[in-house]
Amino acid sequence: MNTIQEIINEIDKILEDAGNLLKSSENVNELESRFRNFTGKKSKLNEVLHNIHSYSSEEKKIIGSKSNEVKNLIGNIYDAKKKELSNVEHEKLLTGCPIDLTIPGKNIEKQHKHPIIAVLEEAVDFFSSMGFEMVEGPEIETTHYNFDALNIPAEHPARDVWDTFYLLNGFVPRTHTSSVQARTLEKKELPFRIIAPGRCYRYEAVDATHLFMFNQMEGLFVDKNVRLTDLKGILEETVKNLLGARKTRFRPAFYPFVEPGLDLDIECVFCGGRGCGICKNTGWIEVIPCGMVHPNVFKYAGIDPNEYRGFAFGMGFDRIVMLKYNINDLRILYQGNLDILGQF
Ligand code: PHE
Repeated sequence: MNTIQEIINEIDKILEDAGNLLKSSENVNELESRFRNFTGKKSKLNEVLHNIHSYSSEEKKIIGSKSNEVKNLIGNIYDAKKKELSNVEHEKLLTGCPIDLTIPGKNIEKQHKHPIIAVLEEAVDFFSSMGFEMVEGPEIETTHYNFDALNIPAEHPARDVWDTFYLLNGFVPRTHTSSVQARTLEKKELPFRIIAPGRCYRYEAVDATHLFMFNQMEGLFVDKNVRLTDLKGILEETVKNLLGARKTRFRPAFYPFVEPGLDLDIECVFCGGRGCGICKNTGWIEVIPCGMVHPNVFKYAGIDPNEYRGFAFGMGFDRIVMLKYNINDLRILYQGNLDILGQF
């Protein structure tokens, strides 16, 4: 058995070793792992104290207080060294690093809303003032709601007009917001007036006036005695509200889910009706396809077409923004270039 003096000498030796090793640590990681070797359960100090039970209580007191004192001293050495190393590492970061952390950050300029969102909010406000409620539908749609329920059966050539990217599971990224018409007719209590804005996708070669992804705003007004004159009045008012006073005209058009089907054109804002590249020399630009809900669409949704009637429209929303701000290339709306978007 070691004498008390031998044990105290051993503890002093541990302190000396600890001092040397901790003080010569080169970084915080190294320091920490060395420190653990001197204080943890498997440390040398603990080994020395292992046989303490065989000493008298007087001796235990002496050994105990000596070892506590040394533990504290080791702790102090560790704290001081850690502070020193942290300062050095921080200093290194500031001076040795290729990034100058003292350069002031980039000023993030505050911008306004994206023109599409700004005009969309304007349109939603306008329609809600006429009692239209906003509803939404999924962008990934079933062919049933995108086509069949809208009177566009699988083998009908009209389906090609909206040909799209088919997903492997048989769903389609919706080609128009008209799918929301079919969904709403099935579940909403009649009568109702809704608008449904959202993104649509088509198999298109992209150019200044065509994108493979674009925004539409669908509208559907169903009641017992809705007439074509209601459609005309409301859509003319819509154009006036969104684009200002413009010359308008309605032209017959074919859409399988409406009868009669129409296109609302406005006089070309780029050439004032004289004819230019953008209006394909017609002097007119198509802005709102529309029509009276086809009886089959009502039937598919379980509504009696002899009792209810309705009108529907589907505005190409990006085009409205384009006309409102005289933008001649739709692509700039999606490029995220703040120098350009900041102008609107
Ligand atoms: N869904 C049609 C399209 O995308 C537009 C439309 C909507 C036409 C509602 C008539 C009524 O081409």
